[in-house]
This record gives sequence, C-alpha cells and structure tokens, in this order.
Amino acid sequence: MARATTPQDLIITPRDRRFGRGTKQDRWWLGGDPVATAYYNALSATFPKGEAYFVESVRLFRDGAPPKLAEEIKAFVTQEVMHSREHVQFNKRALEAGYDMSALEARVEWRLSISRKRPPIVNLAATMCLEHFTAILAHQLLGNPRHLDKADPESAALWRWHAIEEIEHKAVAYDTWLHATRAMGRWQRWRIKAKVMLFVTRNFVVDRSLGTLELLRQDGITGPKAWGRMLWFAWVRPGMMRKILGAWLAFFLPGFHPWNEDDRALIGRAESAYRDAALPAPSAA
Ligand SMILES: [Fe+2]
Ligand SMILES: [Fe+2]
Repeated sequence: MARATTPQDLIITPRDRRFGRGTKQDRWWLGGDPVATAYYNALSATFPKGEAYFVESVRLFRDGAPPKLAEEIKAFVTQEVMHSREHVQFNKRALEAGYDMSALEARVEWRLSISRKRPPIVNLAATMCLEHFTAILAHQLLGNPRHLDKADPESAALWRWHAIEEIEHKAVAYDTWLHATRAMGRWQRWRIKAKVMLFVTRNFVVDRSLGTLELLRQDGITGPKAWGRMLWFAWVRPGMMRKILGAWLAFFLPGFHPWNEDDRALIGRAESAYRDAALPAPSAA
C-alpha cells in the first residue's frame, strides 16, 4: 500500500472553546446510564496529564523539523493544551456530581512516571501510538451519532469538539516520528512502532477498564455484573472497541499513515451539524 502523507492543504485550527462553565452536570450525563458515563469519565480522567505528556514528548522534536511540520506541532500543542484545560473542568464537574477520580488520576501519573524514564524517542513513539488511538476513537465518535445522542448537550459538545481536533492533528506525532527516525531502517522502525503499540494498547485497555470499574463501584455496581456491563458496552453495544478494531490493525500494515484514511469530511460534517462543538472563537488563529 502506498503511503499517503499529510494533506498539503490541511490547516490545523485551534478552536478556543469553553464548555459547561457554571453549569451542574448530571451524575449520569450520558443517557442516564452509569456504565456509559463511567466509560467516558474514565477516559476523561486521563486527558489532562496524558495530553500534557503528549505535548512534552512531541515538542522535544520540534527543533530541526521542517517548517510545515514545526507549524503543525505548534498548532497541535495549542489544541492539546486547550483539551487539557476543558477536561480539567469536565472532571471537576464529575467530581461535583459525586465521583472521586483520584485513583484514576494516580494511575495515569504512575504510568507516565515510568514512561518518562525512557528515552525521548520512546516517549514520542508512545505518543504517536496513543494519538492513533485517539484519532480512531474520534473518527468513530463523530461518524456514529449513536455514541453521544443521549448525552447532555454541553458534554456532547465538548467530546465532539475534542474529536474534531483529534482528527485534524492525528498525523502530527506520526510525522514527527517519521522525521525523527528518518535514519532508521524500515524494519527497525516498524519493529519499534509495533512493539510500542502493543504495549500501550495493553496498558490503555487495562487502565481504562480498571478506571471504569472503579467509577462503577462508586455507583454500587460491582463484581461480575460490573465486568459484564462494561464489556458489553465496550465490545457489543455500542461497541466502541469492536468498531475501532480494524482501524487499530491498519496501524501495523506496511505503508501505514494516519491520512491513508482521509476523514476530513467528518470534521466538516460535525462542524455544520454541531455548531456548539466547532465554533472557533473570534480570536482563534
Ligand atoms: Fe486532545
Ligand atoms: Fe491528540
């Protein structure tokens, strides 16, 4: 398969939006469903620290990057910083709704403290893999309205806004990786990227599952029932994990590049269908 490259006319636009300020969030903001809520809350718990880690991992490689890539890194950083800011607020609303997310945040902190001991190129590789993960989740989230159709509108807008920007900047870490490893052989590059992807996927699935179970426990749902409902939600209906499986596998194919799948139409569609999620602030670049 011939490798696509990032479209020349792609413009990464940070949309400086704020969500849910001064509002109270229902405890089960996603369709009154504790399982759906726990699943997304567990994901949100990882963003502030996780995205700060992505930023620091990619930024280390900005010097020496070609000008277009350096510009894209700058826009990527701006987007991720704003995502962190909004998820801090979202997590605060989850806390106000009665969830204690501290155990989930501590686990993220622990994972990152281990990663940070590794060389910068490994952190870049981990970021590149996790960015593929967020991009395919975002694709699914925007492509299939059922995921958020029962969510409260403000929270839905936050998640859609985030998804739009994740698609838009999905290849920044990847292109940075391609540039940083340009002296490596093809096979060596593939081996590292495949190994890191398997590693981060295992951690992602384990950690998010434990996080979801912890939040369900706080709702009094425990044991096999909690496991069953979580697995059903993730893999069967709506089955987010099942639906992203093909796109996840594509990462391992020779010639993979995030823009082999040009899903910019989803951004345009989301921007017109969900104005709340996409409206750039007047001052945004
Ligand atoms: Fe993000
Ligand atoms: Fe991202």
